[in-house]
Amino acid sequence: MIILGLETSCDETSAAVVKNGTQILSNVVASSLSLHTQTGGIIPETAAREQVRYITPVIEKALTESLPKMASFQTNLSAPKLFSQIDAIAVTVGPGLISSLLVGVETAKTLSLLWQKPLIPVNHLQAHLYANWLEKEKKGFPSFPLIGLVASGGHTDLVLARNHRKIFWLGGTRDDAAGECFDKTARLLNLPYPGGPAISQLAQKGNFQKIKLPQPMVNQENSDFSFSGLKTAVLNLLNSPTKKPKKADLAASIQETIANVLIKKTLNASQRHKVNSIILGGGVIANNRLREKIVSEIKKLKTKIKLFLPSTSFCTDNAATVGSCAFFNYHPQPWSKVFARPDLAIEEKT
Ligand code: KG4
Ligand code: ZN
Repeated sequence: MIILGLETSCDETSAAVVKNGTQILSNVVASSLSLHTQTGGIIPETAAREQVRYITPVIEKALTESLPKMASFQTNLSAPKLFSQIDAIAVTVGPGLISSLLVGVETAKTLSLLWQKPLIPVNHLQAHLYANWLEKEKKGFPSFPLIGLVASGGHTDLVLARNHRKIFWLGGTRDDAAGECFDKTARLLNLPYPGGPAISQLAQKGNFQKIKLPQPMVNQENSDFSFSGLKTAVLNLLNSPTKKPKKADLAASIQETIANVLIKKTLNASQRHKVNSIILGGGVIANNRLREKIVSEIKKLKTKIKLFLPSTSFCTDNAATVGSCAFFNYHPQPWSKVFARPDLAIEEKT
């Protein structure tokens, strides 16, 4: 089955063509990031206006690029017929920014009606985890039951999945998300948006051992997180008349603390629930220190649990994950019943 996936939940505009949930025939991502760097964060209306401009060319590019990789490739197929190779359309319905979600959702509904193709609504947080089904050659596919960690700009959630359809939420952040903590502390350090990559870069010149930051809830036997205290601790250090922390040390310590908390909670949950795999997804999983550290921590445990880390380009928002999620959770809906759902939770059905 060949699915055209669309993703417009935040500032990216992405379209991808995915075969049988695992084979990427194309994955086009346009970003309006440079505009948000100028304003120090995402202005929803700016993001949505750009998405309205990008969505049609991005879809056309994704379809055109996918064609030569299709078994039934016909060289004489003209642009208006590109869609004939597609079996279904999938779209992120939430969570995300309402104005951004609407661009993808309304486009997908229109295409579904026009092309007479099934339409599959997709949960953005679940889609992040499907980055782990897109690179079979790396490690095979994850096996159930599994623990999934989604750490993105707006969410930090741990789930237990018994199969593709049975996902149970174990816990999440009680305040700021991990990515939000990177973004907000970066701002305190006068670093550009998005904060994660900026902190990660500066951290290379710093020593995390020089500054101890709080690791809230890390030792609690649950799967909840709290990151807002970390932001306050950084602010207090910067405002302190006596302590003059080096920015690079602070960046290294912020990164180390967030990585520590995410890793500890994920590994604890995986042992409590005796799973076969751990899968990670979301923008924060692109963090190099977190990636190195979780690999070495799992080695130390001498466990049989297999860790799946998507390539960094599949951690951040992209439509290939949407095409994959829709294949494994195939539940088409009539276009008139598909809506943008900005507050959707990770275990909710779409
Ligand atoms: O998943 P994503 O692309 O979009 C959302 O669904 O939110 O995640 C974006 C978040 C931002 O907070 C950004 O600072 C963070 O992911 N991020 C990183 C890195 N790259 C992106 N955080 C830490 N290290 C990185 N290398
Ligand atoms: Zn995301």
